[in-house]
Amino acid sequence: MAQRRGWMQRTKQLRLWIAAIISGACLSGMMAAQKPAHAHETEDATWWKHAVFYEIYPRSFADSNGDGIGDLNGITAKLDYLKELGVDAIWITPCFPSPQVDFGYDVSDYLNIDPMYGTLADFDRLVAEAKKRNIRIILDFVVNHTSDQHPWFIDSKSSRTSKFRDWYIWRDGRGPNKPPNNWVSTFGGSAWTYDPKTGQYYYHFFYPQQPDLNWRNPAVKNAMFDVTRFWYNRGVAGFRLDAVDTLFEDPNLKNNPISKPGKNAFGDPILENKYNTKLPEVHDILRGLREIADEHNGVLIGETWTTDVAELDKYYGEKNNELQLPMDFLFCMVNKLSAPEFRKQIAAVNEASGWPTFVISNHDIVRSYDRYGDGVHNDAIAKVMAALYLTLRGTPIMYYGEEIGMKTTPPTRQEDVKDPIGRTGWPKEKGRDGERTPMQWNGDRNAGFTTGTPWLPIPETFKTHNVADESKDPSSVLEFYKKVLQLRRTNPALRYGNYTPLNEGDANVLAYARIGQTGGVVIVLNMSGVPQTVRLGINTKGFVSAQNLLSSGAASIKADRVSLGPYGVFIGQLTR
Ligand code: NOJ
Repeated sequence: MAQRRGWMQRTKQLRLWIAAIISGACLSGMMAAQKPAHAHETEDATWWKHAVFYEIYPRSFADSNGDGIGDLNGITAKLDYLKELGVDAIWITPCFPSPQVDFGYDVSDYLNIDPMYGTLADFDRLVAEAKKRNIRIILDFVVNHTSDQHPWFIDSKSSRTSKFRDWYIWRDGRGPNKPPNNWVSTFGGSAWTYDPKTGQYYYHFFYPQQPDLNWRNPAVKNAMFDVTRFWYNRGVAGFRLDAVDTLFEDPNLKNNPISKPGKNAFGDPILENKYNTKLPEVHDILRGLREIADEHNGVLIGETWTTDVAELDKYYGEKNNELQLPMDFLFCMVNKLSAPEFRKQIAAVNEASGWPTFVISNHDIVRSYDRYGDGVHNDAIAKVMAALYLTLRGTPIMYYGEEIGMKTTPPTRQEDVKDPIGRTGWPKEKGRDGERTPMQWNGDRNAGFTTGTPWLPIPETFKTHNVADESKDPSSVLEFYKKVLQLRRTNPALRYGNYTPLNEGDANVLAYARIGQTGGVVIVLNMSGVPQTVRLGINTKGFVSAQNLLSSGAASIKADRVSLGPYGVFIGQLTR
Protein backbone atom coordinates (compact mmCIF):
# COMPACT_ATOMS: atom_id res chain seq x y z
CA MET A 1 0.00 0.00 0.00
CA ALA A 2 2.80 2.30 0.92
CA GLN A 3 4.31 1.46 -2.43
CA ARG A 4 1.10 2.25 -4.20
CA ARG A 5 0.90 5.59 -2.42
CA GLY A 6 4.49 6.30 -3.32
CA TRP A 7 3.67 5.49 -6.89
CA MET A 8 0.67 7.78 -6.93
CA GLN A 9 2.85 10.62 -5.80
CA ARG A 10 5.40 9.80 -8.46
CA THR A 11 2.68 9.68 -11.06
CA LYS A 12 1.62 13.18 -10.21
CA GLN A 13 5.19 14.25 -10.30
CA LEU A 14 5.73 12.71 -13.68
CA ARG A 15 2.58 14.06 -15.15
CA LEU A 16 3.71 17.52 -14.24
CA TRP A 17 7.08 16.78 -15.59
CA ILE A 18 7.03 15.37 -18.92
CA ALA A 19 7.69 17.77 -21.57
CA ALA A 20 10.65 18.85 -23.58
CA ILE A 21 12.46 18.19 -26.83
CA ILE A 22 15.15 19.26 -28.99
CA SER A 23 17.63 22.11 -29.08
CA GLY A 24 22.52 24.93 -31.18
CA ALA A 25 24.82 26.85 -34.13
CA CYS A 26 28.52 26.96 -34.30
CA LEU A 27 28.55 23.35 -35.38
CA SER A 28 26.69 24.05 -38.57
CA GLY A 29 29.67 25.00 -40.61
CA MET A 30 31.70 22.08 -39.37
CA MET A 31 28.97 19.55 -39.97
CA ALA A 32 27.89 20.85 -43.33
CA ALA A 33 31.17 19.57 -44.68
CA GLN A 34 30.24 16.01 -43.72
CA LYS A 35 27.92 14.13 -46.01
CA PRO A 36 25.42 11.78 -44.41
CA ALA A 37 26.68 8.24 -44.57
CA HIS A 38 23.45 6.67 -45.83
CA ALA A 39 24.87 3.48 -44.47
CA HIS A 40 21.49 1.81 -44.15
CA GLU A 41 20.01 2.92 -47.44
CA THR A 42 19.31 -0.58 -48.57
CA GLU A 43 17.92 -1.83 -45.27
CA ASP A 44 14.29 -2.13 -44.37
CA ALA A 45 13.09 1.40 -43.64
CA THR A 46 10.73 0.17 -40.96
CA TRP A 47 13.25 -1.92 -39.01
CA TRP A 48 12.11 -0.19 -35.81
CA LYS A 49 8.65 -1.77 -36.06
CA HIS A 50 9.96 -5.24 -35.46
CA ALA A 51 12.92 -4.45 -33.27
CA VAL A 52 13.02 -5.04 -29.53
CA PHE A 53 14.56 -2.05 -27.79
CA TYR A 54 16.33 -2.25 -24.44
CA GLU A 55 17.02 0.75 -22.25
CA ILE A 56 20.39 0.85 -20.48
CA TYR A 57 21.11 3.22 -17.63
CA PRO A 58 24.88 3.19 -18.17
CA ARG A 59 25.83 4.02 -14.57
CA SER A 60 24.14 0.86 -13.46
CA PHE A 61 24.63 -1.75 -16.15
CA ALA A 62 28.17 -3.10 -16.02
CA ASP A 63 31.36 -1.61 -14.60
CA SER A 64 34.51 -2.59 -16.51
CA ASN A 65 37.08 -0.60 -14.52
CA GLY A 66 36.10 -1.08 -10.89
CA ASP A 67 35.15 2.53 -10.09
CA GLY A 68 31.66 1.46 -9.01
CA ILE A 69 30.00 3.14 -12.00
CA GLY A 70 28.98 1.33 -15.17
CA ASP A 71 30.59 2.31 -18.47
CA LEU A 72 30.59 1.79 -22.22
CA ASN A 73 33.15 -1.02 -22.15
CA GLY A 74 30.91 -2.70 -19.62
CA ILE A 75 28.03 -2.53 -22.08
CA THR A 76 30.22 -3.87 -24.90
CA ALA A 77 31.17 -6.81 -22.70
CA LYS A 78 27.50 -7.68 -22.28
CA LEU A 79 26.46 -7.56 -25.93
CA ASP A 80 26.42 -11.34 -26.20
CA TYR A 81 24.00 -11.48 -23.30
CA LEU A 82 21.74 -8.93 -25.02
CA LYS A 83 21.91 -10.82 -28.27
CA GLU A 84 20.97 -14.07 -26.60
CA LEU A 85 18.13 -12.34 -24.82
CA GLY A 86 16.71 -11.19 -28.15
CA VAL A 87 17.44 -7.48 -28.18
CA ASP A 88 17.78 -5.61 -31.50
CA ALA A 89 18.58 -2.08 -30.32
CA ILE A 90 19.86 -0.52 -27.12
CA TRP A 91 18.96 2.95 -25.95
CA ILE A 92 21.68 4.32 -23.70
CA THR A 93 20.59 7.12 -21.38
CA PRO A 94 22.90 10.16 -21.61
CA CYS A 95 26.58 9.23 -21.57
CA PHE A 96 27.89 12.66 -22.68
CA PRO A 97 30.12 14.90 -20.57
CA SER A 98 28.04 16.20 -17.72
CA PRO A 99 28.39 17.51 -14.18
CA GLN A 100 25.89 14.70 -13.37
CA VAL A 101 23.52 16.89 -11.40
CA ASP A 102 20.71 14.95 -13.07
CA PHE A 103 22.91 11.94 -13.82
CA GLY A 104 23.65 12.90 -17.41
CA TYR A 105 20.44 14.73 -18.27
CA ASP A 106 22.51 17.89 -17.84
CA VAL A 107 24.81 17.78 -20.86
CA SER A 108 27.90 20.01 -21.03
CA ASP A 109 29.14 18.70 -24.39
CA TYR A 110 26.87 16.95 -26.87
CA LEU A 111 29.73 15.70 -29.01
CA ASN A 112 31.76 13.62 -26.62
CA ILE A 113 31.59 10.85 -24.05
CA ASP A 114 31.89 11.54 -20.34
CA PRO A 115 35.25 10.15 -19.11
CA MET A 116 33.39 8.23 -16.41
CA TYR A 117 31.81 6.20 -19.22
CA GLY A 118 34.83 5.99 -21.50
CA THR A 119 35.99 7.68 -24.69
CA LEU A 120 34.77 8.26 -28.21
CA ALA A 121 36.98 5.34 -29.22
CA ASP A 122 35.13 3.14 -26.70
CA PHE A 123 31.89 4.37 -28.18
CA ASP A 124 33.03 3.51 -31.70
CA ARG A 125 34.02 0.06 -30.53
CA LEU A 126 30.63 -0.42 -28.93
CA VAL A 127 28.90 0.56 -32.17
CA ALA A 128 31.13 -1.78 -34.20
CA GLU A 129 30.73 -4.73 -31.84
CA ALA A 130 27.00 -4.18 -31.64
CA LYS A 131 26.77 -4.07 -35.42
CA LYS A 132 28.46 -7.47 -35.66
CA ARG A 133 25.57 -8.77 -33.60
CA ASN A 134 22.89 -6.81 -35.50
CA ILE A 135 22.25 -4.61 -32.49
CA ARG A 136 21.67 -0.94 -33.12
CA ILE A 137 22.65 1.89 -30.78
CA ILE A 138 20.19 4.63 -29.86
CA LEU A 139 21.38 7.70 -27.95
CA ASP A 140 19.41 9.86 -25.57
CA PHE A 141 19.13 13.40 -26.89
CA VAL A 142 18.47 15.98 -24.19
CA VAL A 143 16.82 18.57 -26.33
CA ASN A 144 15.11 20.96 -23.96
CA HIS A 145 18.06 22.09 -21.89
CA THR A 146 21.81 21.90 -21.46
CA SER A 147 23.90 21.87 -18.32
CA ASP A 148 24.67 25.26 -16.81
CA GLN A 149 28.28 24.19 -17.41
CA HIS A 150 27.80 23.94 -21.16
CA PRO A 151 30.06 26.52 -22.90
CA TRP A 152 26.93 27.96 -24.57
CA PHE A 153 25.39 28.78 -21.22
CA ILE A 154 28.62 29.93 -19.63
CA ASP A 155 28.98 32.42 -22.46
CA SER A 156 25.28 33.30 -22.41
CA LYS A 157 25.53 34.16 -18.74
CA SER A 158 28.69 36.22 -19.13
CA SER A 159 26.94 39.39 -20.35
CA ARG A 160 23.71 40.68 -21.81
CA THR A 161 25.50 41.19 -25.10
CA SER A 162 26.97 37.70 -25.32
CA LYS A 163 26.65 36.03 -28.71
CA PHE A 164 24.92 33.18 -26.89
CA ARG A 165 22.61 35.34 -24.74
CA ASP A 166 19.59 34.52 -26.84
CA TRP A 167 20.36 30.80 -26.85
CA TYR A 168 18.62 30.57 -23.50
CA ILE A 169 15.54 32.21 -22.04
CA TRP A 170 16.47 35.36 -20.14
CA ARG A 171 13.86 37.77 -18.82
CA ASP A 172 13.55 40.69 -16.41
CA GLY A 173 11.86 40.06 -13.10
CA ARG A 174 8.63 41.74 -12.08
CA GLY A 175 10.44 43.63 -9.33
CA PRO A 176 12.96 42.84 -6.58
CA ASN A 177 12.89 39.09 -5.85
CA LYS A 178 9.97 38.65 -8.21
CA PRO A 179 10.57 36.18 -11.05
CA PRO A 180 9.01 36.92 -14.47
CA ASN A 181 5.95 34.74 -13.77
CA ASN A 182 4.55 31.97 -11.55
CA TRP A 183 5.99 28.95 -13.40
CA VAL A 184 7.45 26.30 -11.13
CA SER A 185 10.18 23.81 -11.91
CA THR A 186 9.01 20.23 -12.07
CA PHE A 187 11.93 19.44 -9.76
CA GLY A 188 10.82 22.02 -7.18
CA GLY A 189 10.95 25.77 -6.65
CA SER A 190 10.55 28.59 -9.15
CA ALA A 191 11.37 27.79 -12.77
CA TRP A 192 13.39 31.02 -12.82
CA THR A 193 16.82 31.63 -11.34
CA TYR A 194 18.20 35.11 -10.88
CA ASP A 195 21.66 35.90 -12.18
CA PRO A 196 23.03 38.84 -10.16
CA LYS A 197 25.81 39.59 -12.65
CA THR A 198 23.51 40.44 -15.55
CA GLY A 199 20.45 41.28 -13.45
CA GLN A 200 18.04 38.92 -15.24
CA TYR A 201 16.37 35.58 -14.64
CA TYR A 202 16.89 32.45 -16.76
CA TYR A 203 14.25 29.78 -17.21
CA HIS A 204 14.60 26.07 -16.37
CA PHE A 205 11.80 23.54 -16.49
CA PHE A 206 14.01 21.13 -14.52
CA TYR A 207 16.88 21.93 -12.10
CA PRO A 208 18.50 25.39 -12.08
CA GLN A 209 21.57 23.58 -13.43
CA GLN A 210 19.52 22.67 -16.52
CA PRO A 211 18.76 25.98 -18.30
CA ASP A 212 16.22 25.70 -21.11
CA LEU A 213 17.45 26.33 -24.61
CA ASN A 214 15.64 28.95 -26.65
CA TRP A 215 14.33 26.94 -29.57
CA ARG A 216 12.91 30.08 -31.17
CA ASN A 217 16.49 31.01 -32.01
CA PRO A 218 17.42 29.44 -35.39
CA ALA A 219 21.04 29.15 -34.25
CA VAL A 220 19.95 26.81 -31.46
CA LYS A 221 17.98 24.71 -33.86
CA ASN A 222 20.87 24.45 -36.34
CA ALA A 223 23.39 23.51 -33.68
CA MET A 224 21.14 20.88 -32.16
CA PHE A 225 20.21 19.42 -35.53
CA ASP A 226 23.91 19.13 -36.26
CA VAL A 227 24.39 17.18 -33.06
CA THR A 228 22.18 14.45 -34.47
CA ARG A 229 24.15 14.44 -37.76
CA PHE A 230 27.37 14.04 -35.80
CA TRP A 231 26.12 10.89 -34.11
CA TYR A 232 24.40 9.44 -37.15
CA ASN A 233 27.69 9.73 -38.94
CA ARG A 234 29.26 7.81 -36.06
CA GLY A 235 26.85 4.97 -36.60
CA VAL A 236 23.95 5.52 -34.26
CA ALA A 237 20.54 4.37 -35.41
CA GLY A 238 18.44 7.07 -33.80
CA PHE A 239 17.55 8.97 -30.68
CA ARG A 240 15.28 8.88 -27.73
CA LEU A 241 14.19 12.51 -27.39
CA ASP A 242 14.09 13.62 -23.79
CA ALA A 243 11.17 15.61 -22.39
CA VAL A 244 9.76 16.51 -25.79
CA ASP A 245 6.83 18.52 -24.52
CA THR A 246 8.89 21.19 -22.83
CA LEU A 247 10.73 22.64 -25.84
CA PHE A 248 8.71 25.81 -26.20
CA GLU A 249 7.18 28.37 -23.86
CA ASP A 250 4.59 31.04 -24.39
CA PRO A 251 6.56 34.13 -25.50
CA ASN A 252 4.29 36.33 -23.37
CA LEU A 253 5.04 34.22 -20.31
CA LYS A 254 1.42 34.05 -19.15
CA ASN A 255 1.00 32.73 -15.65
CA ASN A 256 0.01 29.07 -15.41
CA PRO A 257 -3.38 28.39 -13.82
CA ILE A 258 -3.62 26.55 -10.52
CA SER A 259 -4.85 23.04 -11.25
CA LYS A 260 -5.47 21.88 -7.70
CA PRO A 261 -5.53 23.43 -4.26
CA GLY A 262 -2.67 22.58 -1.92
CA LYS A 263 1.04 22.01 -2.43
CA ASN A 264 3.12 19.29 -4.12
CA ALA A 265 5.93 17.23 -2.56
CA PHE A 266 8.29 20.20 -2.91
CA GLY A 267 5.89 22.62 -1.24
CA ASP A 268 5.05 24.39 -4.50
CA PRO A 269 1.57 25.29 -5.76
CA ILE A 270 0.09 22.70 -8.10
CA LEU A 271 -0.12 24.33 -11.52
CA GLU A 272 -1.29 23.21 -14.89
CA ASN A 273 1.69 23.61 -17.26
CA LYS A 274 -0.53 25.27 -19.78
CA TYR A 275 1.85 27.88 -21.11
CA ASN A 276 5.17 26.06 -20.88
CA THR A 277 4.50 22.59 -22.28
CA LYS A 278 3.05 21.03 -25.41
CA LEU A 279 3.13 24.16 -27.52
CA PRO A 280 2.38 23.50 -31.21
CA GLU A 281 5.84 24.75 -32.25
CA VAL A 282 7.24 21.46 -30.92
CA HIS A 283 5.98 19.76 -34.04
CA ASP A 284 8.03 21.95 -36.41
CA ILE A 285 11.14 20.79 -34.62
CA LEU A 286 10.11 17.17 -34.69
CA ARG A 287 9.56 17.38 -38.44
CA GLY A 288 13.04 18.85 -38.86
CA LEU A 289 14.65 16.13 -36.78
CA ARG A 290 12.72 13.50 -38.68
CA GLU A 291 14.02 14.73 -42.01
CA ILE A 292 17.55 14.17 -40.77
CA ALA A 293 16.61 10.82 -39.26
CA ASP A 294 15.17 9.71 -42.59
CA GLU A 295 18.44 10.49 -44.35
CA HIS A 296 20.06 7.95 -42.06
CA ASN A 297 17.29 5.38 -41.72
CA GLY A 298 17.18 6.48 -38.11
CA VAL A 299 14.41 6.21 -35.58
CA LEU A 300 13.05 8.88 -33.25
CA ILE A 301 11.58 7.68 -29.99
CA GLY A 302 9.79 10.26 -27.90
CA GLU A 303 9.41 10.68 -24.19
CA THR A 304 5.82 11.65 -24.76
CA TRP A 305 3.65 11.91 -21.69
CA THR A 306 0.16 12.53 -22.94
CA THR A 307 -3.25 12.78 -21.39
CA ASP A 308 -5.01 10.74 -24.09
CA VAL A 309 -4.40 8.94 -27.35
CA ALA A 310 -5.54 11.95 -29.40
CA GLU A 311 -2.64 13.88 -27.93
CA LEU A 312 -0.26 10.97 -28.47
CA ASP A 313 -1.42 10.74 -32.05
CA LYS A 314 -0.16 14.24 -32.81
CA TYR A 315 3.41 13.12 -32.16
CA TYR A 316 3.37 10.83 -35.19
CA GLY A 317 2.83 13.95 -37.30
CA GLU A 318 0.01 14.71 -39.67
CA LYS A 319 1.83 12.94 -42.46
CA ASN A 320 3.54 10.45 -40.23
CA ASN A 321 6.56 12.70 -40.48
CA GLU A 322 7.45 13.27 -36.83
CA LEU A 323 8.21 10.54 -34.29
CA GLN A 324 8.07 6.92 -35.38
CA LEU A 325 7.90 5.75 -31.78
CA PRO A 326 6.21 8.11 -29.32
CA MET A 327 6.03 6.13 -26.08
CA ASP A 328 2.55 5.28 -24.95
CA PHE A 329 2.78 6.09 -21.26
CA LEU A 330 -0.97 5.74 -20.96
CA PHE A 331 -0.41 1.99 -21.26
CA CYS A 332 2.50 2.19 -18.82
CA MET A 333 0.36 4.07 -16.34
CA VAL A 334 -2.30 1.39 -16.10
CA ASN A 335 -0.92 0.93 -12.65
CA LYS A 336 -2.85 -2.18 -11.74
CA LEU A 337 -3.15 -5.64 -13.17
CA SER A 338 -6.54 -5.01 -14.69
CA ALA A 339 -7.75 -6.78 -17.82
CA PRO A 340 -10.45 -4.17 -18.59
CA GLU A 341 -8.05 -1.26 -18.19
CA PHE A 342 -5.37 -2.78 -20.38
CA ARG A 343 -8.00 -3.81 -22.93
CA LYS A 344 -9.28 -0.28 -23.14
CA GLN A 345 -5.84 1.25 -23.50
CA ILE A 346 -4.62 -1.24 -26.10
CA ALA A 347 -7.77 -0.69 -28.17
CA ALA A 348 -7.30 3.06 -27.99
CA VAL A 349 -3.68 3.04 -29.11
CA ASN A 350 -4.50 0.65 -31.92
CA GLU A 351 -6.70 3.39 -33.32
CA ALA A 352 -3.78 5.82 -33.44
CA SER A 353 -2.38 6.79 -36.81
CA GLY A 354 1.08 5.41 -36.10
CA TRP A 355 2.76 2.32 -34.73
CA PRO A 356 2.29 1.74 -30.97
CA THR A 357 5.27 1.83 -28.60
CA PHE A 358 4.99 0.01 -25.30
CA VAL A 359 7.01 0.44 -22.14
CA ILE A 360 6.31 -0.88 -18.69
CA SER A 361 9.33 0.47 -16.78
CA ASN A 362 12.07 3.05 -17.07
CA HIS A 363 14.62 4.98 -15.04
CA ASP A 364 12.05 7.49 -13.76
CA ILE A 365 9.29 5.25 -12.49
CA VAL A 366 8.81 2.46 -10.00
CA ARG A 367 9.70 -0.83 -11.71
CA SER A 368 6.89 -2.89 -13.22
CA TYR A 369 7.87 -5.81 -10.95
CA ASP A 370 6.64 -3.81 -7.97
CA ARG A 371 3.85 -1.82 -9.59
CA TYR A 372 2.03 -4.93 -10.77
CA GLY A 373 3.39 -7.46 -8.30
CA ASP A 374 1.25 -8.39 -5.28
CA GLY A 375 4.25 -9.24 -3.10
CA VAL A 376 3.54 -12.97 -3.32
CA HIS A 377 3.24 -13.90 -6.99
CA ASN A 378 5.60 -11.29 -8.39
CA ASP A 379 7.50 -13.66 -10.69
CA ALA A 380 4.30 -15.06 -12.17
CA ILE A 381 2.97 -11.55 -12.63
CA ALA A 382 6.23 -10.44 -14.25
CA LYS A 383 5.67 -13.20 -16.81
CA VAL A 384 2.10 -12.01 -17.42
CA MET A 385 3.41 -8.51 -18.10
CA ALA A 386 6.16 -9.83 -20.40
CA ALA A 387 3.67 -11.96 -22.31
CA LEU A 388 1.46 -8.92 -22.64
CA TYR A 389 3.64 -6.17 -23.95
CA LEU A 390 5.99 -8.36 -25.94
CA THR A 391 3.16 -9.91 -27.96
CA LEU A 392 1.18 -6.78 -28.76
CA ARG A 393 1.15 -5.12 -32.15
CA GLY A 394 3.78 -2.49 -31.54
CA THR A 395 7.38 -1.97 -30.52
CA PRO A 396 8.41 -2.79 -26.96
CA ILE A 397 11.10 -0.94 -25.05
CA MET A 398 12.43 -3.03 -22.20
CA TYR A 399 14.24 -1.61 -19.19
CA TYR A 400 17.43 -3.30 -17.98
CA GLY A 401 16.79 -5.78 -15.20
CA GLU A 402 13.11 -6.12 -15.96
CA GLU A 403 13.90 -9.44 -17.63
CA ILE A 404 15.24 -10.89 -14.38
CA GLY A 405 12.53 -9.47 -12.15
CA MET A 406 14.55 -6.70 -10.55
CA LYS A 407 12.66 -4.86 -7.90
CA THR A 408 12.62 -1.22 -6.95
CA THR A 409 14.74 -0.61 -3.87
CA PRO A 410 14.39 2.98 -2.70
CA PRO A 411 16.73 4.41 -0.09
CA THR A 412 15.53 4.19 3.47
CA ARG A 413 17.43 7.21 4.81
CA GLN A 414 17.47 10.70 3.36
CA GLU A 415 21.25 10.91 3.71
CA ASP A 416 21.66 7.94 1.34
CA VAL A 417 19.66 9.52 -1.49
CA LYS A 418 21.60 10.29 -4.67
CA ASP A 419 18.82 11.66 -6.88
CA PRO A 420 18.44 15.36 -5.89
CA ILE A 421 14.62 15.32 -6.04
CA GLY A 422 14.70 12.61 -3.42
CA ARG A 423 16.62 14.86 -1.05
CA THR A 424 14.49 17.96 -1.59
CA GLY A 425 11.19 16.05 -1.68
CA TRP A 426 11.93 13.62 1.20
CA PRO A 427 9.96 11.85 2.55
CA LYS A 428 7.07 12.29 0.12
CA GLU A 429 9.34 12.02 -2.90
CA LYS A 430 12.23 9.61 -2.37
CA GLY A 431 13.68 10.14 -5.81
CA ARG A 432 14.51 7.62 -8.49
CA ASP A 433 17.47 5.72 -7.01
CA GLY A 434 15.23 2.74 -6.32
CA GLU A 435 14.70 1.92 -9.97
CA ARG A 436 18.32 2.61 -10.94
CA THR A 437 20.17 0.08 -8.79
CA PRO A 438 22.96 -1.97 -10.43
CA MET A 439 22.16 -4.80 -12.79
CA GLN A 440 22.24 -8.16 -11.05
CA TRP A 441 24.54 -10.38 -13.08
CA ASN A 442 25.21 -13.17 -10.60
CA GLY A 443 25.00 -14.17 -6.95
CA ASP A 444 28.57 -13.14 -6.15
CA ARG A 445 29.87 -10.02 -4.46
CA ASN A 446 28.16 -6.87 -5.77
CA ALA A 447 26.05 -9.06 -8.01
CA GLY A 448 28.92 -9.14 -10.49
CA PHE A 449 28.29 -5.50 -11.37
CA THR A 450 31.59 -4.10 -10.12
CA THR A 451 34.76 -5.09 -8.34
CA GLY A 452 34.66 -1.71 -6.56
CA THR A 453 32.02 -0.03 -4.44
CA PRO A 454 28.77 0.27 -6.36
CA TRP A 455 27.41 3.81 -6.67
CA LEU A 456 24.04 2.59 -5.39
CA PRO A 457 23.57 -0.36 -3.05
CA ILE A 458 22.79 -3.77 -4.56
CA PRO A 459 19.30 -4.93 -3.60
CA GLU A 460 19.20 -8.06 -1.45
CA THR A 461 17.19 -9.82 -4.13
CA PHE A 462 20.32 -10.27 -6.22
CA LYS A 463 20.74 -13.60 -4.51
CA THR A 464 17.58 -14.97 -6.09
CA HIS A 465 17.19 -12.75 -9.13
CA ASN A 466 20.29 -12.61 -11.24
CA VAL A 467 21.30 -13.49 -14.79
CA ALA A 468 23.61 -16.40 -13.99
CA ASP A 469 21.21 -18.31 -11.76
CA GLU A 470 18.11 -17.59 -13.78
CA SER A 471 19.81 -18.76 -16.96
CA LYS A 472 20.05 -22.20 -15.39
CA ASP A 473 16.42 -22.30 -14.29
CA PRO A 474 13.89 -23.00 -17.06
CA SER A 475 11.08 -21.61 -14.94
CA SER A 476 12.77 -18.26 -14.25
CA VAL A 477 11.52 -14.86 -15.34
CA LEU A 478 14.60 -14.51 -17.56
CA GLU A 479 14.01 -17.76 -19.41
CA PHE A 480 10.39 -16.77 -19.92
CA TYR A 481 11.46 -13.45 -21.45
CA LYS A 482 13.84 -15.26 -23.79
CA LYS A 483 11.11 -17.60 -24.94
CA VAL A 484 8.58 -14.84 -25.59
CA LEU A 485 11.18 -12.81 -27.46
CA GLN A 486 12.12 -15.83 -29.52
CA LEU A 487 8.46 -16.39 -30.42
CA ARG A 488 8.04 -12.75 -31.28
CA ARG A 489 11.00 -12.95 -33.62
CA THR A 490 10.04 -16.14 -35.37
CA ASN A 491 6.26 -16.25 -35.51
CA PRO A 492 4.89 -14.30 -38.50
CA ALA A 493 1.55 -13.60 -36.80
CA LEU A 494 3.32 -11.96 -33.87
CA ARG A 495 5.33 -9.94 -36.33
CA TYR A 496 2.73 -8.88 -38.84
CA GLY A 497 -0.65 -9.88 -37.42
CA ASN A 498 -3.40 -7.46 -36.49
CA TYR A 499 -4.68 -7.06 -32.95
CA THR A 500 -8.00 -8.84 -32.38
CA PRO A 501 -9.49 -8.57 -28.90
CA LEU A 502 -11.29 -11.72 -27.63
CA ASN A 503 -13.69 -12.43 -24.80
CA GLU A 504 -13.99 -8.71 -24.25
CA GLY A 505 -16.32 -8.65 -21.23
CA ASP A 506 -13.96 -10.63 -18.99
CA ALA A 507 -12.93 -8.81 -15.83
CA ASN A 508 -9.98 -11.08 -15.04
CA VAL A 509 -8.60 -12.52 -18.23
CA LEU A 510 -7.14 -10.49 -21.04
CA ALA A 511 -7.34 -12.44 -24.29
CA TYR A 512 -6.47 -11.38 -27.82
CA ALA A 513 -5.21 -12.78 -31.05
CA ARG A 514 -2.65 -11.59 -33.53
CA ILE A 515 -3.99 -12.68 -36.87
CA GLY A 516 -1.98 -12.42 -40.06
CA GLN A 517 -2.27 -13.71 -43.60
CA THR A 518 -0.94 -17.15 -42.86
CA GLY A 519 -2.38 -17.81 -39.41
CA GLY A 520 -2.81 -16.49 -35.95
CA VAL A 521 -1.62 -16.64 -32.38
CA VAL A 522 -3.80 -16.32 -29.32
CA ILE A 523 -2.59 -14.80 -26.07
CA VAL A 524 -4.54 -15.44 -22.88
CA LEU A 525 -3.46 -13.79 -19.62
CA ASN A 526 -4.98 -14.43 -16.23
CA MET A 527 -4.65 -11.15 -14.36
CA SER A 528 -6.18 -12.60 -11.21
CA GLY A 529 -4.92 -14.76 -8.37
CA VAL A 530 -7.57 -17.47 -8.88
CA PRO A 531 -7.83 -20.10 -11.62
CA GLN A 532 -9.90 -19.09 -14.64
CA THR A 533 -11.47 -20.84 -17.59
CA VAL A 534 -12.51 -18.78 -20.58
CA ARG A 535 -14.18 -19.38 -23.90
CA LEU A 536 -12.27 -17.54 -26.56
CA GLY A 537 -14.92 -17.37 -29.29
CA ILE A 538 -12.28 -17.92 -31.98
CA ASN A 539 -14.74 -19.77 -34.20
CA THR A 540 -16.01 -16.39 -35.34
CA LYS A 541 -12.49 -15.70 -36.61
CA GLY A 542 -12.31 -19.02 -38.50
CA PHE A 543 -10.34 -21.06 -35.95
CA VAL A 544 -11.30 -24.03 -33.78
CA SER A 545 -8.55 -24.27 -31.21
CA ALA A 546 -4.90 -23.54 -30.56
CA GLN A 547 -1.68 -25.42 -29.94
CA ASN A 548 0.38 -24.45 -26.96
CA LEU A 549 3.45 -22.43 -27.94
CA LEU A 550 4.32 -21.12 -24.51
CA SER A 551 2.59 -21.09 -21.16
CA SER A 552 3.20 -20.33 -17.53
CA GLY A 553 1.36 -21.78 -14.57
CA ALA A 554 -1.02 -24.66 -15.17
CA ALA A 555 -2.55 -23.88 -18.58
CA SER A 556 -4.50 -26.05 -20.96
CA ILE A 557 -6.85 -25.72 -23.91
CA LYS A 558 -9.78 -27.84 -25.04
CA ALA A 559 -11.46 -26.70 -28.23
CA ASP A 560 -11.72 -22.98 -27.59
CA ARG A 561 -11.77 -23.16 -23.78
CA VAL A 562 -8.57 -22.15 -22.08
CA SER A 563 -7.94 -22.91 -18.41
CA LEU A 564 -5.33 -20.96 -16.56
CA GLY A 565 -3.83 -21.08 -13.09
CA PRO A 566 -3.47 -17.94 -10.97
CA TYR A 567 -1.59 -15.34 -13.02
CA GLY A 568 -1.24 -17.94 -15.75
CA VAL A 569 -0.26 -17.34 -19.37
CA PHE A 570 -1.25 -19.28 -22.46
CA ILE A 571 0.13 -18.44 -25.90
CA GLY A 572 -1.03 -20.75 -28.69
CA GLN A 573 -0.91 -21.12 -32.44
CA LEU A 574 -4.49 -20.96 -33.70
CA THR A 575 -5.67 -24.01 -35.59
CA ARG A 576 -8.47 -24.35 -38.12
C1 NOJ B 1 13.28 12.98 -18.44
C2 NOJ B 1 14.33 11.98 -18.06
O1 NOJ B 1 13.84 10.69 -18.30
C3 NOJ B 1 14.63 12.26 -16.60
O2 NOJ B 1 15.43 11.24 -16.04
C4 NOJ B 1 15.29 13.61 -16.50
O3 NOJ B 1 15.50 13.91 -15.14
C5 NOJ B 1 14.40 14.70 -17.11
N1 NOJ B 1 13.85 14.31 -18.38
C6 NOJ B 1 15.20 15.96 -17.35
O4 NOJ B 1 16.08 15.78 -18.44
